[in-house]
Amino acid sequence: MKPKLENKTAIVTGAGSGIGRAIARRFAEEGACVVIAEIKSDTGKSAEEEIRKAGHKALFVETDVSVSKDVINMVEKTIQEFGKVDILVNNAGILVKKSILDMAEEDWDRVLDTNLKGAFLCIRHTVGHMMKQKKGKIVNISSMGAKIGLHNDCGYCASKGGIISLTTSLGIDLAPLGINVNAIGPGIIDTPMVNDVATQGKDFIKNGIEKTPRGVIGKPDDIAAAALFLASDESDFVVGQTFFVDGGFISV
Ligand SMILES: NC(=O)c1ccc[n+]([C@@H]2O[C@H](COP(=O)([O-])OP(=O)(O)OC[C@H]3O[C@@H](n4cnc5c(N)ncnc54)[C@H](O)[C@@H]3O)[C@@H](O)[C@H]2O)c1
Repeated sequence: MKPKLENKTAIVTGAGSGIGRAIARRFAEEGACVVIAEIKSDTGKSAEEEIRKAGHKALFVETDVSVSKDVINMVEKTIQEFGKVDILVNNAGILVKKSILDMAEEDWDRVLDTNLKGAFLCIRHTVGHMMKQKKGKIVNISSMGAKIGLHNDCGYCASKGGIISLTTSLGIDLAPLGINVNAIGPGIIDTPMVNDVATQGKDFIKNGIEKTPRGVIGKPDDIAAAALFLASDESDFVVGQTFFVDGGFISV
């Protein structure tokens, strides 16, 4: 079967770990040149090495998605190395689990700057390249928390709700230009982020499994499969949607 992303270049933010790493790996297996835009150089480099060792093309660019100059550098390095950018996955994200009274202004800014402003900056600086070629795919990673809320996660849920609105709005603006903007809302996925929460809290994974109709928590590859669809030509008629991949969690 023909690889689904042959001759494509994809930037995946936060691709050193968890969901982003699985997306980068899957896209590379489908023929894409992959840019790993990651704030942590150790995990970013190891993701680059893993993909190259498997015989694919990858480039690590140390990037803090909340900082304009880093994002501009990320795009410049992508163009220098691979000549274009066809796909952007806004996956980098952080979780600050605090009650409203414990949530300092700095906590709020950090979450919103990474999860929402980061996506804006990455789109802002890549979209011109997509416009020139009259084609592009933008996949934003939201969360089921945007839809149903999560306990002591107000900043995170607000940022992920913002991602859904950004997706709807830019989906409409950019569709006439041949650029699809869509989002994925993962349920509970087995990654370092969730494992961190699980170490703080009381049967988090056990409760998650019980509340998920599918009876398991998800794997990063489950989200990578959805991202592949939204990044491929098969999703050309899908505009401004958020695709919840959650084992049925929010449907109950
Ligand atoms: N795991 C879940 O259950 C779950 C559920 C819903 C949504 N999500 C979302 O999926 C995305 C990936 O999460 P994950 O579970 O793989 O977590 P993770 O912590 O394993 O991965 C997040 C990655 O983003 C990177 N990152 C953080 N801040 C960054 C910044 N400013 N610039 C660049 N990179 C940065 C981290 O270093 C890390 O490599 C996040 O947006 C998260 O909110 C995860």
